[in-house]
Amino acid sequence: MSGMFVSFEGVDGVGKTTQVERLRSYAEGLGREVVVTREPGGTGLGVALRQLLLHGVSGDDAADIAPRTEALLFAADRAQHVAEVIRPALERGAVVISDRYIDSSLAYQAGGRELAQGEVRQLSLWATNDLLPERTYLLDMDPKASHGRLEHSEDRMESAGGGFQERTRQAFLDLAEREPGRFRVIDAARPVDEVWERIRLDAEALLAK
Ligand code: TYD
Repeated sequence: MSGMFVSFEGVDGVGKTTQVERLRSYAEGLGREVVVTREPGGTGLGVALRQLLLHGVSGDDAADIAPRTEALLFAADRAQHVAEVIRPALERGAVVISDRYIDSSLAYQAGGRELAQGEVRQLSLWATNDLLPERTYLLDMDPKASHGRLEHSEDRMESAGGGFQERTRQAFLDLAEREPGRFRVIDAARPVDEVWERIRLDAEALLAK
């Protein structure tokens, strides 16, 4: 594969979407084909799974989605995303930028929901046939502050509670510490332009390779 795979991670409301768009414009300015995508919901099947994951199943007697079911549904979304969108784009030589990827499952389903980290990792690696990003930008911020930035009413994941969000943030930081070669941790409480400047400096070197 000759393309470049980059992911953005972080708790809800840290401003990933803004930075993803800046990186898209920057890479396009260098003449690269860029594919911007997201999880959950990067494919037709994924849009249906996203609806279930974020809004649950309707009906008065519908039980909430169990943690293991949730992990499987996120992994199913990811398997389809890699097969249908990410691998074909990388094979064309494109820069693929995904708003969330495997680390979200490790942080939310293992960290937040407290499933076993190794099992969730195995599940996702199986789903993706071991595809990992070359670079992951972790936009780090106190979830109490980032949730105040959300402009929509909270969905099923966002309303999971303060302890859940704190565990998720910590799990992201632990992942970044374990894989310093892949991760760049950026203080997302800084102004948008400063956050972008840090990403741009790193991306410049990455895209020049
Ligand atoms: P996101 O699209 O970032 O939310 P929004 O459109 O509201 O900004 O992500 C949806 C939610 O799904 C978010 O709370 C994180 C969660 N999530 C997981 O729990 N596990 C996963 O593997 C992924 C990809 C997302």
